[in-house]
Amino acid sequence: MVNQVHPLLNEPIQPKDWSSGIERPQSLLEHIPENPAPLMELANQHIVSVRQFNQDQVTQLCRLAALYETTPSLYQPPLTGKILISAFYEPSTRTRLSFESAWHRLGGDIMSITDPATTGIAKGESLKDVAEMFNNYGDLVVLRDNNNESVYQMIEALRIPIINAGNGTDEHPTQALADIYTIFKWRPELMYGNIAEEKRVTVGIIGVPARMRTVRSLLLFLSLFPRGIREIVVISDTTDVFDEEQREDLTNKGIKVTVSHNLEDKLPELDIVYINAIAWVGDSFETHGSKFNLTAESPLKKGAIILHPLARGKELATDLDETAHNWYFAQARGAVFIRMALLTTLTQRINQIMDAPLT
Ligand code: CP
Repeated sequence: MVNQVHPLLNEPIQPKDWSSGIERPQSLLEHIPENPAPLMELANQHIVSVRQFNQDQVTQLCRLAALYETTPSLYQPPLTGKILISAFYEPSTRTRLSFESAWHRLGGDIMSITDPATTGIAKGESLKDVAEMFNNYGDLVVLRDNNNESVYQMIEALRIPIINAGNGTDEHPTQALADIYTIFKWRPELMYGNIAEEKRVTVGIIGVPARMRTVRSLLLFLSLFPRGIREIVVISDTTDVFDEEQREDLTNKGIKVTVSHNLEDKLPELDIVYINAIAWVGDSFETHGSKFNLTAESPLKKGAIILHPLARGKELATDLDETAHNWYFAQARGAVFIRMALLTTLTQRINQIMDAPLT
């Protein structure tokens, strides 16, 4: 290749097709009547856990995300002059960049920390003291940290909202918002009750709910919308897949929960296939379920969608990317819009976007 132009450079860049798939958020928008009141309840809140949300708030967040996704240039940027402190003390591609993209698209400015060693933390400064400084420098904090407790240490001193962007093995609430937003774009009727038995979905989780924060948060959101779910099947090669009360959070809502060790057997029954192999623990990551792989040859049900929080490894073959089962790229793309919706809500800018009178 020396002294030659790489053949890929002779290909024109494909135009960015923003309208692709736009009918999905449009359909979601048409399913949900506008009601800003549930979002006003979230104004100026810290967001650490999915347990903080109710069904109406999730529904209205998804509606606002769909509004942003269908008509991104319709609004005056509501966060002009506001500063986001984006503190990622653990690696991230999607969460940091989609939060920053969301804040930029809303017109705000950003200060980003991607390595705690470049801050006073390297000199032993406490997170509580760092948070005290953040109060003076920004308007909202997004934090990722490998310690489950760090976000709570910061909250002790914060007088501006903080969003948990992944705290150790505990939770990743905004990833789960992106998951649920994707599911509702696929099947908006799953938001509501009285769904006929044949329209309910079987959800497969290939992963370990006790170890994976993305799965833990997704299961909590699914427990808010039990009536569209026929069954949740956790597929894992370990026996201790649930933490204390994790399973009960689902079964107490009437959701049937089973555990299987056989992916091939279960796959033809699954309408939603959520797969994840990585759990970030401490300064490194664990890989789970190495014998479970999805490929274009896997016995997937017709019409089934695959979700993955990404980054992917061998568990998700790239030959699935060109198939209709690929909803994981839509899931990553939609994360920008659902985060825009959440940021607009927490910064009390809802009235600039929604013009319906508050009841
Ligand atoms: N889904 C997710 O959390 O991805 P990142 O680790 O790249 O942020």
